[in-house]
Amino acid sequence: MEEVVIMSKIEEGTETSEAQIAVHWQEEGVYAPSVKFIAQSNMTDEKVYERFSLKNFPDCFKEYADLLDWYKYWDEILDTSDAPCFKWFKGGKINASYNCIDRHLEKNRNKTAIHFVPELETERVDHITYQELFVRVNEFAAVLQDFCGLKAGDRVTLHMPMSAELPVTMLACARLGVIHSQVFGGFSGKAAADRAVDSQSKVLITMDAYYRGGQLLDHKEKADTAVAEAAKDGQKIDKVLVWQRYPGKYSAPNTPMVDGRDYFVNDVLKKYYGARIEPVQMPAEAPLFLMYTSGTTGKPKGACHSTGGYLAYVTGTSKYIQDIHPEDVYWCMADIGWITGHSYIVYGPLALCASTVIYEGIPNYPDAGRCWRIAQDLGVNIFHTAPTAIRALRKIGPDEPAKYNYEFKHMTTVGEPIEPEVWKWYYNVVGKGKAAIVDTWWQTETGGFLCSTIPALRAMKPGSCGPGVPGIHPIVYDEDGNVLPAGCGKAGNICIQNPWPGLMQTIWGDRERFVRQYFSRYCKDPKSKRWQDWPYLTGDAAVEAADGYVRILGRIDDVINVSGHRLGTKELESAALTVPEVAESAVVPVKHDIKGIEPDLYVALKPGIAATPELAKRISEAIVKEIGAIARPRKVWIVPDMPKTRSGKIMRRVLGSISNKTDIGDVMTLANPEIVEAIQKLVQG
Ligand code: WTA
Repeated sequence: MEEVVIMSKIEEGTETSEAQIAVHWQEEGVYAPSVKFIAQSNMTDEKVYERFSLKNFPDCFKEYADLLDWYKYWDEILDTSDAPCFKWFKGGKINASYNCIDRHLEKNRNKTAIHFVPELETERVDHITYQELFVRVNEFAAVLQDFCGLKAGDRVTLHMPMSAELPVTMLACARLGVIHSQVFGGFSGKAAADRAVDSQSKVLITMDAYYRGGQLLDHKEKADTAVAEAAKDGQKIDKVLVWQRYPGKYSAPNTPMVDGRDYFVNDVLKKYYGARIEPVQMPAEAPLFLMYTSGTTGKPKGACHSTGGYLAYVTGTSKYIQDIHPEDVYWCMADIGWITGHSYIVYGPLALCASTVIYEGIPNYPDAGRCWRIAQDLGVNIFHTAPTAIRALRKIGPDEPAKYNYEFKHMTTVGEPIEPEVWKWYYNVVGKGKAAIVDTWWQTETGGFLCSTIPALRAMKPGSCGPGVPGIHPIVYDEDGNVLPAGCGKAGNICIQNPWPGLMQTIWGDRERFVRQYFSRYCKDPKSKRWQDWPYLTGDAAVEAADGYVRILGRIDDVINVSGHRLGTKELESAALTVPEVAESAVVPVKHDIKGIEPDLYVALKPGIAATPELAKRISEAIVKEIGAIARPRKVWIVPDMPKTRSGKIMRRVLGSISNKTDIGDVMTLANPEIVEAIQKLVQG
């Protein structure tokens, strides 16, 4: 058993990091990919690691850029003059929509680009060819350009469910150089508003309804909230474009359309049938999209991804890590509202001319066999999901995969550490012992994979994501900036030594926060224009084994990872404080069998207010309203007071131990040690 010591000392009061809760499992044996897999693999050349070594940096990334079609090649591969806002392929001209669609038409016009699978099995799967995608994207681009007056550089907020219309919308934006900002459909209208305000979007694109768990949910009502809330913050949204789940029919009849503001896309489109819009030749470094993610403060930050660098990076990693070939049927179960969906449902697979599956609903609707039925019926051979879904599927239908006749050659796990037991079920039962697995560790900010195995070249090790992928050079530092060498058995803060094309360019509108949060920690010289002086801080704790495989232990900041989705503890805490009775709030991560982590919310009330179940419910609802159902706390604990340091900081570490029923440690230094026992009684009974 490898002893893992957590080195990161975290600011007092926020000591319950996921790193400390992370399971200390033992080093596992390795699994080799099959000969059959290797024989067909896109990358079997061991020399790739040498080609992408630091010695060959940054020129090595030309290999990824050459997977794309450029209008004009770049003048400079990496411009570091504004470090750490790095610009890749500077001077190059490219269009992402062209690369994902137009360039495939000559040979593959009639090949399926998107299989859209509705949640209801009584509805037909929509097989959209590249030609059809071309037509839909062009027509919708005409709507954006002519009807909405949008042009390159404008921002548009999308708040759409899993649908074929979502990639159509994204690619139509990309065709014009309009910057899309898709907000996860499960988020609330208020969350969409916050993001629209930050990005100054004047247009909101949504859908009237979608299915989830067999219910047709009214989604349009969230757009009304979003417009109202954005207006309160001074952002006027003048147009709401509403796609229809059933074209020509309105599926949210209880939520009226607002005259002069809301438009059915399917009506507006009629005027643009047959329209063709020339892709705009965008500078490689122009933003392609924003993806908001949770940080350590209440305010989500818009990770700003570039056109040329991002597209090159996701195309390269889709080809070599996901092993996507044009003839593959590829299914990533993530939501397109997350970075995984942007990079590895839409941009990467379509740039490679694959067929990508988009599933509307939940994995277990109407039963535990649904995923495997979809895989069987569509001939899916590459499957991509997160540990939270794997745990759930294993729990509800451990023997289901064997009942279906599908064969995966490759499977991915992403989003959080996967326990070796769960990994083995994935390998043996879902993959039937035949599929190569890649565990891909990365972040919204990084655009694409950081650590993983090249599946034909490196063995799989359950629980470890692997070494840096080509061109990514991780390094683990302790608190004082000393390097913790591979095999030393100590965990530290994992950083990446070098920039890469998928790395976000900045936080939208907040360069200072970008520099502070991701680069200041280990920066050698804040004035430096050399990339060598700017290691990227991921915010994760990790341990590197002697063989260079990295095991991620979790976050070191105030971010918790629920079902593989990042939530800022501050976001939840400030949402709780919108309830007037609440005086203080604290969120801590709690271990959960399926979700990995769930938030527990502790609140203290203002003087004279009584704790009631009704109030606890109202607080929980406030969080759902502000952020979305995904953030709903496992439990709202109304406590008489928070455990505090003498300087008045809430001791989340203590609350975390109580929720997780682990050792609380010494509390005598607290300002109010007696409160701990009272809370313990309340929570643990
Ligand atoms: C965690 C999702 C362990 C990590 C792509 C990271 C992982 C955060 C893995 C980013 C993995 C992601 N193993 N942990 N394979 N993948 N994480 O921005 O803590 O939603 O910092 O991006 O998820 O979450 P995000």
